[in-house]
Amino acid sequence: MNYRSLGRTGWRLSEISFGAWAIGGGWGNVDDKESLATLHAALDGGVNFFDTADVYGDGRSERLLAKLKKERNEKFYIATKAGRRLPVQTTEGYSRKNLTTFLHRSLRNLNTDTIDLLQLHCPPTEVYYRPEVFAILEDFVKEGKLRHYGVSVEKVEEALKAIEFPNVQSVQIIFNIFRQRPAELFFAEAQKRNVGIFARVPLASGLLSGKMSHDSKFAKDDHRNFNRHGEAFDRGETFSGVDFETGLRTVDKLKTFVPSNASLAQLALRWILEFPAVTCSIPGAKRPAQVADNISASDLPPLSKASMKTIRNLYDGHIKPLVHHYW
Ligand SMILES: NC(=O)c1ccc[n+]([C@@H]2O[C@H](COP(=O)([O-])OP(=O)(O)OC[C@H]3O[C@@H](n4cnc5c(N)ncnc54)[C@H](OP(=O)(O)O)[C@@H]3O)[C@@H](O)[C@H]2O)c1
Repeated sequence: MNYRSLGRTGWRLSEISFGAWAIGGGWGNVDDKESLATLHAALDGGVNFFDTADVYGDGRSERLLAKLKKERNEKFYIATKAGRRLPVQTTEGYSRKNLTTFLHRSLRNLNTDTIDLLQLHCPPTEVYYRPEVFAILEDFVKEGKLRHYGVSVEKVEEALKAIEFPNVQSVQIIFNIFRQRPAELFFAEAQKRNVGIFARVPLASGLLSGKMSHDSKFAKDDHRNFNRHGEAFDRGETFSGVDFETGLRTVDKLKTFVPSNASLAQLALRWILEFPAVTCSIPGAKRPAQVADNISASDLPPLSKASMKTIRNLYDGHIKPLVHHYW
């Protein structure tokens, strides 16, 4: 495993880290014992950063990470998020009272006095025009409740606005072979300000693992069943906003140049590592074998210029018209 600096925090994070949404819920049935084994496998493989949120399984994901901390001695970092417990997303909802309530709940779930990193959880765009919200996060740091804070955004424009706040240390954004726009302008701006970047949904919800087909079935409580058109939350969070059939056709094309010793998931994760602005990707996983597959991407040699160009051409030809300008 290789490690990269997270902006100005002084932290060195595993370039393949871990996204803990699926082990909380919203992706079909999960078993806590298997989820915990998956988290242990991540630590065993050198992962030292875990991304979660207070709403993942209504705190189940945070509590599993607290359990992991109890069972292991090595140092690792946990980032959580706040804001999605609001019944309706409004700018006014990001008040001191609400954020304090969410913070205290996460502190309890994570069984800690100080959260490593708290991210605003895809708030309305207007929140990025409200310095008073960021002043609340500053106060949490001064009170010792947070080490650092950052944001998780839907849109490049929100990311660009967020990094104008001087103490935003990290931006989490969807970035993968099917979502390439962040690399155009935002990455350079984040690098100028030395802000860390977490590439989320790096496997386009598993589509970029190459295991899916027209016949794939998803459980009733799996967002890949119920959110394909944004019925429950932003549609970009499910298959990266790419129409499933188009995604499958493009994945078939990608499969033809996966190196013989690698999986398509590894290729997808290695592709992200080609961008030095990215601190780490945070692939989700439900089973130890998936973690092992994902972290091996860190051992792959860099992709050739020709491979990068082919992937870009596939994106430009098949995916870009469907997604590029929405986020
Ligand atoms: N708004 C936000 O802030 C937000 C939104 C989305 C995600 N996130 C964060 O980003 C993380 C990553 O995104 P994501 O979990 O949505 O999507 P993802 O990482 O693109 O896909 C994860 C899913 O793909 C499948 N998978 C993983 N590794 C695999 C492998 N090697 N081979 C085959 N299948 C594999 C697993 O599901 P199956 O086994 O069920 O197929 C896994 O749950 C989340 O866990 C969360 O921490 C944040």
